[in-house]
Amino acid sequence: MPNVLLIGNGAREHAMAEAIARSKGKRSLYSYMRANNPGIAALSEQVFLGGYGDLDAISDFARKHRIDFAVVGPEDPLNLGAVDALARIGIPGVGPTKSLARLETSKAFTRNLLEKYGIPGNPRFRVFTSTEGIEDYMRELDAVVVKPDGLTGGKGVMVEGDHFRTKKEALAYCGEVLRSHPSVMVEEKLEGEEFSLQCISDGKTVIATPPVQDHKRRFAGDTGPNTGGMGSYSCEDHSLPFLRPGEAEEGLAITSRVARAIYEETGAYYKGIMYAGFIVTRTGLRLLEYNARFGDPEAMNILPLLTGDFVELCTHVIEGTLDRMPVSFEPKATVCKYIVPRGYGLPKDHPDAGSTSGKIEIGKVGGARLYYASVDQRADGLYLSTSRAIGVVGIAGNLREAEEIAEKAVAAVRGPVDHRRDIGTKALIQKRIDHMKKIRTQ
Ligand code: GLY
Repeated sequence: MPNVLLIGNGAREHAMAEAIARSKGKRSLYSYMRANNPGIAALSEQVFLGGYGDLDAISDFARKHRIDFAVVGPEDPLNLGAVDALARIGIPGVGPTKSLARLETSKAFTRNLLEKYGIPGNPRFRVFTSTEGIEDYMRELDAVVVKPDGLTGGKGVMVEGDHFRTKKEALAYCGEVLRSHPSVMVEEKLEGEEFSLQCISDGKTVIATPPVQDHKRRFAGDTGPNTGGMGSYSCEDHSLPFLRPGEAEEGLAITSRVARAIYEETGAYYKGIMYAGFIVTRTGLRLLEYNARFGDPEAMNILPLLTGDFVELCTHVIEGTLDRMPVSFEPKATVCKYIVPRGYGLPKDHPDAGSTSGKIEIGKVGGARLYYASVDQRADGLYLSTSRAIGVVGIAGNLREAEEIAEKAVAAVRGPVDHRRDIGTKALIQKRIDHMKKIRTQ
């Protein structure tokens, strides 16, 4: 009867908690959260509220409840050494150590790893520790992307054409990055369609979950500022409509080679999630970045489809026996739409920018699944609390039905909220297919 510790408090972790709770064997869930998530709390024996950097509090909570293993949701506790601290008291984790979490926390580590081990997927890139030479290198590239080397909460990557117009502006941004980070990466800008391939690794065996497409822009039609993600979809054939046969498999092959390279480079097995952000371009698949965790919202697309036992899967990750576990996902389509406060992600001068709080009422949501993110349960009901509030997931035999289920459920949530109506719709998906067709024939 394992006692499982879950670290994290978003909708991604709510989906993880649900997957743990679905486990057939007897298990008890203990949750360490930075802020209370009523959905996770309802599934947990005990919760503890504390900072992700408070490694003593995490260890004490784990020791007190005789935790058998921990599962870490977000990148911050990984980067702050939660897995290392638990290992020191004999508790294994599903999630990499601080050193191996460099896969996400250091863009330079990952790019250099691919290059050193001859793994395909890197765009043209160069890492700089000072501004010397940046201008010359930028001249070699048509358009550039600038990435700080380190965690930036998804806000540090700046793209020519989107965030700045000229190489001069890019250079100024590099200088700004170098004032707070040890290095900055300059990469060629890639054109294509992006997708997320979340893989599970025990360091030797890597298993892919169905590919998912996320939607970062705040408004319908992929307009407005970037956000943490407004929603995502996956398809019943476990591919995506703009992918060619074999492209998702190519992504898995790259990730498997990266897991092997990590072992060769460090002598340690990567046990946890390797979430690759890929882009399909005219000349094939390229890696945008790795994350050392499930995606948010993408975890909500794939975890409910897992047919096997998540706790058993975690045990195999820890024991390095993932090759002995058959892992499969239901052949269903999923559409996740994030309900957000009306003012979420808006520029400060937008008239709705201040609207990030208020009470919400949840009516009949039919067959949809609701995963809580940033909501506050008070005596008189549920309140928004500044960030993305609820991930609403429709699951069905095809995308059309999954989208309808999600949309109906969103309509049942009343309050000062907003969402992207277009996610998972035929029109938006056709736009993606047409975009990719145009790119492939250029
Ligand atoms: N969906 C983007 C992320 O989880 O980083």
